[in-house]
Amino acid sequence: MRPRRLAPLLPDPRRLLRYLNPSAAMSPAAAHLATAADADEDLCASAAADAAAAEELVPAPPLPPPPVSAEERVERAWAHWRRLGAPRLTVAPMVDNSELPFRMLCRRYGADAAYTPMLHSRIFSENEKYRSMEFTTCKEDRPLFVQFCANDPDILLQAAKMVEPYCDYVDINFGCPQRIARRGNYGAFLMDNLPLVKSLVQNLSANLHVPVSCKIRVFPQLEDTLAYAKMLEEAGASLVAVHGRTRDQKDGKKFRADWDAIKAVKDALRIPVLANGNIRHMEDVKDCLEHTGADGVLSAETLLENPALFAGFRTKEWKEDGDENGDSGLDQADLVIEYLKLCEQYPVPWRMIRSHVHKMLGDWFRVHPEVREELNKQPILTFEWLHDMVMRLKQLGGRVPLYRKEGSIPMARNEVATENA
Ligand SMILES: Cc1cc2nc3c(=O)[nH]c(=O)nc-3n(C[C@H](O)[C@H](O)[C@H](O)COP(=O)(O)O)c2cc1C
Repeated sequence: MRPRRLAPLLPDPRRLLRYLNPSAAMSPAAAHLATAADADEDLCASAAADAAAAEELVPAPPLPPPPVSAEERVERAWAHWRRLGAPRLTVAPMVDNSELPFRMLCRRYGADAAYTPMLHSRIFSENEKYRSMEFTTCKEDRPLFVQFCANDPDILLQAAKMVEPYCDYVDINFGCPQRIARRGNYGAFLMDNLPLVKSLVQNLSANLHVPVSCKIRVFPQLEDTLAYAKMLEEAGASLVAVHGRTRDQKDGKKFRADWDAIKAVKDALRIPVLANGNIRHMEDVKDCLEHTGADGVLSAETLLENPALFAGFRTKEWKEDGDENGDSGLDQADLVIEYLKLCEQYPVPWRMIRSHVHKMLGDWFRVHPEVREELNKQPILTFEWLHDMVMRLKQLGGRVPLYRKEGSIPMARNEVATENA
């Protein structure tokens, strides 16, 4: 199939090619032979396919959508959500970790939707290399939230316009609590400047054709959180994902997310609300949805260890009493192999692959730390080397299974209750 250039704004034709026809964009040579010192920054396969021959089919930029009433916006938010199949189980945004091959792996194992990693709106709108390295997608990668951090409404809009044709929500990150976000004045630090938050959401929702979503953290005081969430809805957000920790509660293992606060936000808003925090297995999903009444959940850290979480698999850490016989036959080494194959299909920088291999094989490396050492010492990775490493681990014994109870069927997508609409 000859690639078609559908939109002038998708920056790198190689990405578009991959979007339209992933196998055509694959480098047969799979040239993982970089010699640079920062080889981890290279793509894991040269995106050799040059779309220079791509047909030009450049549509005129669409006009901004006409303004609608608040009532109508809420109705549209639900209609959109339902059209997407009311996705309940979503891969949370993770810098360097929720990239295309990882999203596709999680989708194979039950994820209904996924976020991209946070993209920096200014760099994205200015820098073609950044765009092509950090944003890749394909037609099966839906529903998709593309997340940006921003502090300038016009720059955010410019960046969002570039991804609009390839996603189902443009998301604004209002939750990043890291020092880099403080320095850059974005993420959770915009909680100190709510007028700016409001103008980011208003400008985006008034000018984009895809709905706008916001990912937020909670304030220490519930009434502040509720006022904040309502302001986002009024400003035009079509969905809010609530991470139930405050900006200062950075350590997810140390601080439990506050599901009561998420429930209060869900009760206060009329648009779909997703709950984030404390989702480690499917029992948590069920409990969280019951507790909060949220329309779906996001999971981050546990998915990194166990991308099959949403299909009902549990790691050793979360296995239930009586699960001893519940060895599912699947293990994290199998998932690494699947992930590597997806990376061959959808190239990403090696640093992302390295990070996933460490996280998925953490339990195995604890049994065989010498193999972890070998990985750490390997300055340049290749798929061949990584496949061999996984084989070696398997041969060394001490397999760590994933567990799944007989009959523990993963949850189906929810039909959104009509009273929510
Ligand atoms: C490696 C990593 C990277 C993350 N990057 C982002 C990000 O880009 N944008 C964002 O909104 N949150 C980011 N987060 C936060 C998660 O999306 C999520 O809100 C948080 O980890 C709580 O969910 P959990 O309890 O399931 O881990 C990141 C978390 C991790 C572990």
